[in-house]
Amino acid sequence: MTVLPSYVKVFAPATVANVASGFDVLGFAVSHPGDTVEAFSRVAHGVTLQGITGDRGRLPHGEGNTVVVAVRELLRRLEKPFGVDIVLHKGMPLSSGLGGSAASAAAALHAVNVLAGEPLSPEELLRCSLEAERAVSGSVHADNAAPALLGGFVLVRSTDPLDAMTLPVPPGLTVVLVSPDIEISTALARRMLPTKIPLKDAISQLGNLAALVASLFSDNLALMGRSLSDLIAEPIRAELIPGFKGVKKAALAAGALGCSISGSGPAMFALVGTVTQAEVVAKEMQNGFKVAGLKATSYISEVGAAGPRVVEKG
Ligand code: HSE
Repeated sequence: MTVLPSYVKVFAPATVANVASGFDVLGFAVSHPGDTVEAFSRVAHGVTLQGITGDRGRLPHGEGNTVVVAVRELLRRLEKPFGVDIVLHKGMPLSSGLGGSAASAAAALHAVNVLAGEPLSPEELLRCSLEAERAVSGSVHADNAAPALLGGFVLVRSTDPLDAMTLPVPPGLTVVLVSPDIEISTALARRMLPTKIPLKDAISQLGNLAALVASLFSDNLALMGRSLSDLIAEPIRAELIPGFKGVKKAALAAGALGCSISGSGPAMFALVGTVTQAEVVAKEMQNGFKVAGLKATSYISEVGAAGPRVVEKG
């Protein structure tokens, strides 16, 4: 008989959603930062979020937290349900555009699945995560949740029915993520978007999205650079990010293939071909925010890192 663990600690990665031309349909995992969850099994059914660190007391512990709703959804799907106590350690700034709530949910779901003996596939865990998104925020997009749970560079063709697939990533492709010291509410950043877009913009966006996907399959970094352009969200959301224009200009001048907003911002990302180049681009982007009066933290990572991983088990 397999003995199941009674404790597990899991790390799940931050994610870059949209990737310029892939609004709501493209996202990739980074190696860091990320959130960590400790989960303890208990006999009494249900889920309790016992504590949160790294949020300065700002996140809800109940129904308003995707961790609680996602884990409840998972437990409901188990043949032999049990209960869990959870402690969440936030490893990234809140409302930063780094996919924080998706990372928390992914870490919690992976942890509780491990406690249960891993009966659910990552795709089933993703359904639980999306249910939680729907319940907590009212809107469902999987471009953070899917890469946070599956790892890699993910294309979400549809959320209903769920159809998400992992794309290849050219060797050496590196991301620079720069997160300025301000917050943007995703709900607000979504309300600002137009409900209709001109046909000529739709055509350009489709061309760029298709070419970006083609560039991933063909390792064609020049094509990738030409495709990293967003006519839907970036022009409007850029207004919310002090220094946006300067940061983007600095990234491109320093040799980045492209630069845009990570998720709903304010973090910005740039893709580059090598780690050496990434260091130069990170410095220039941070400086761009400094000119606008903002402190910013930078992270350099492979594009399409692994999904959740067990850090400790007992
Ligand atoms: N695709 C989403 C957006 C990601 O840009 O609104 C943020 O949750």
